[in-house]
Amino acid sequence: MSIHKSEIKKVTTHQLQSMKERGEKISMLTAYDYSMASLIDGAGVDIILVGDSASNVMAGHETTLPITLDQMIYHASAVVRAVKRAFVVVDIPFGSYQGNSSEALRSAIRIMKESGAHSVKMEGGTEIKESIIRVLSAGVPVMGHLGLTPQSIYKFGTYAVRAQEKEEADQLIDDARLLEECGCYAIVLEKIPASLAAKVAQEVKIPVIGIGAGLHVDGQVLVMHDMLGITKEFQPRFLRQYADLGTSIHNAVTQYVSDIKAKDFPNEKESY
Ligand code: KIV
Repeated sequence: MSIHKSEIKKVTTHQLQSMKERGEKISMLTAYDYSMASLIDGAGVDIILVGDSASNVMAGHETTLPITLDQMIYHASAVVRAVKRAFVVVDIPFGSYQGNSSEALRSAIRIMKESGAHSVKMEGGTEIKESIIRVLSAGVPVMGHLGLTPQSIYKFGTYAVRAQEKEEADQLIDDARLLEECGCYAIVLEKIPASLAAKVAQEVKIPVIGIGAGLHVDGQVLVMHDMLGITKEFQPRFLRQYADLGTSIHNAVTQYVSDIKAKDFPNEKESY
């Protein structure tokens, strides 16, 4: 038997935990395909999320609900093939774990076996407790997701900030404690007041990763297409745009079309 040892030290759940303990912030970004995953892994992101936001940014759906388990596995396996260092987490999509804990386990196992990813993410707290425990019992690391959980968008009716009232904030804190007790290795908090997110990050010992949850959490996540300026129509307050690839791509393609029309491409050097 030959053992292939990679020179690159891979990120693990233990490392993520130590990062929280020593106060080093965790970076997390979405990816859905080989080329982009390779670029962001090479740039040093700690966690790559194969998010069900693929339903919006890759497939053009209005919500995350339509994406299927097979489609998530397709995206995840492409990402895993690219990644050398980052820890890869995959969303279990809507309708693939809410039914019961056996369905949750089956979906998690399919993701792990067929994509080679390192963990799964599930939206919700006490209402999916049994499923989380069942998935964890099979040795699959689980990342929780509380606050604005897009798979429940039709229950919320809006993408507004969650947990602004005391009752919902108290429930969120209880859910975060529950996720920690169950054995989740991390929790994503989406679009909640910064003061509440800071409280959760202090209350629980596991890493808390925020998106629209302020600075005082253990790490940050964004949807890659949003932060690179590819999806221009989505401009929430929490989004910092680090590039304007939308404009760069538009300009490059406009130039390409114009060169073809002008019979300027290909030139002699570009021909055989
Ligand atoms: O699917 C996704 O991209 C997510 C992030 C917004 C956290 O769940």
